Amino acid sequence: MSQGETLLVTGGAGYIGSHTLVELLAAGHAVLVLDNFSNSCAAVLDRVAELSGREVPWVEGDVRDTSLLQKVFAEQEQRGTPITAVLHFAALKAVGESVAEPLRYYDNNVAGTLSLLSVMQQFKVLRFVFSSSATVYGEPTALPYVEDHQIAPTNPYGHSKAMVEQLLRDLCQAREQFTAITLRYFNPIGAHPSGLLGEDPHDVPNNLFPFITKVAVGQLPALQIFGNDYETPDGTGVRDYIHVVDLAQGHLAALDYGRKQSGFHAFNLGTGRGTSVLELVAAFERVTGAAVPRQWAARRPGDIAAAWADPSLAREVLSWQARHTIDDMCADGWRWQSQHPDGYRTASPSAPVRGDPAT
Ligand code: NAD
Ligand code: WQD
Repeated sequence: MSQGETLLVTGGAGYIGSHTLVELLAAGHAVLVLDNFSNSCAAVLDRVAELSGREVPWVEGDVRDTSLLQKVFAEQEQRGTPITAVLHFAALKAVGESVAEPLRYYDNNVAGTLSLLSVMQQFKVLRFVFSSSATVYGEPTALPYVEDHQIAPTNPYGHSKAMVEQLLRDLCQAREQFTAITLRYFNPIGAHPSGLLGEDPHDVPNNLFPFITKVAVGQLPALQIFGNDYETPDGTGVRDYIHVVDLAQGHLAALDYGRKQSGFHAFNLGTGRGTSVLELVAAFERVTGAAVPRQWAARRPGDIAAAWADPSLAREVLSWQARHTIDDMCADGWRWQSQHPDGYRTASPSAPVRGDPAT
């Protein structure tokens, strides 16, 4: 356990950020969340506080607001608890939306990161953990994806992640003490085993797992399975689903590594196992007993047949590996969804402890 660090967590109220907060707090870190709540709400942070028995201070604001960032970093210095590292989750993440609104995506994801890095530079904060995505690889030239697979994204969202990765490489070249750990997430699903935290999409979900849980809970009529003629064992798309708690723990490992090592380092965070759409639906029905009505639909434009990680670099270098099974992901995801059919608008089973807004 490393005491004494204060970590800025941008996008900490989001799906992956909130699960990571729980792990950071359990490891003895202090956190400060910066989130504009464009895809989340402050109630999430009450849940994190409830789970952790710790305060979760937060600031409502945008990473593109450079003067707000300066104020946040300066106030932490004045309090004697300077920010020592940043975990940067804040981003827009819907692939289809990024095709329709590329400028919004580049502004939020790329300009937002530039703003953050420039203030970090000003305050001499040297450690950065970045939420990247397997989507930076694009069409696989070989599977599993290894970290030195070509970077060839196929949509503006993926390009925004690849651009930030390039920016981080260049910054590490220029400043030898700077450390940027880029984590390329595969397909995070599931929820905290307590049932208190989970994914809460505001609109109809784009991704498979939240769509399955919304169908199972009766809020959507049927799952559309996009394509049955891929070159995969059962014809449906294959992905590397990873439990969100495993993913969250990967950030602790990355932080520790970044304390010992400078420069740019990229790691796949996946399980190394592929699961098809039909396999995931079958596992979900078996584990939960809930029915998932489904129908065949055309392939979704831009989808690839199969994608899974080679996670051995993270295992060897970060001493991290995913431990949860597909069954765990289904059971935990269903606990969250069935107890919270309306996400964070559903009342908490017990009274929340309030995290204090920091400003
Ligand atoms: P999310 O939308 O649940 O969380 C993102 C959070 O960032 C939200 O709370 C949102 O309000 C906040 N935010 C967005 N733009 C902001 C801004 N300009 N300033 C301040 N706050 C802002 O998404 P998530 O699934 O938790 O994803 C977290 C990160 O992981 C993102 O960077 C995403 O691109 C990346 N990622 C996600 C997945 C996935 O499948 N969920 C896969 C790969 C990578
Ligand atoms: C998985 C499989 C679909 C929905 C996306 C982003 C990626 C990353 C994770 C952020 C595919 C099939 C899906 C549905 C279906 N996000 N499917 N019916 O496409 O691997 O990755 O989320 O970084 O950037 O592209 O995940 O969950 O959308 O799809 O049949 O209603 O499920 O065709 O085979 P994907 P997904």
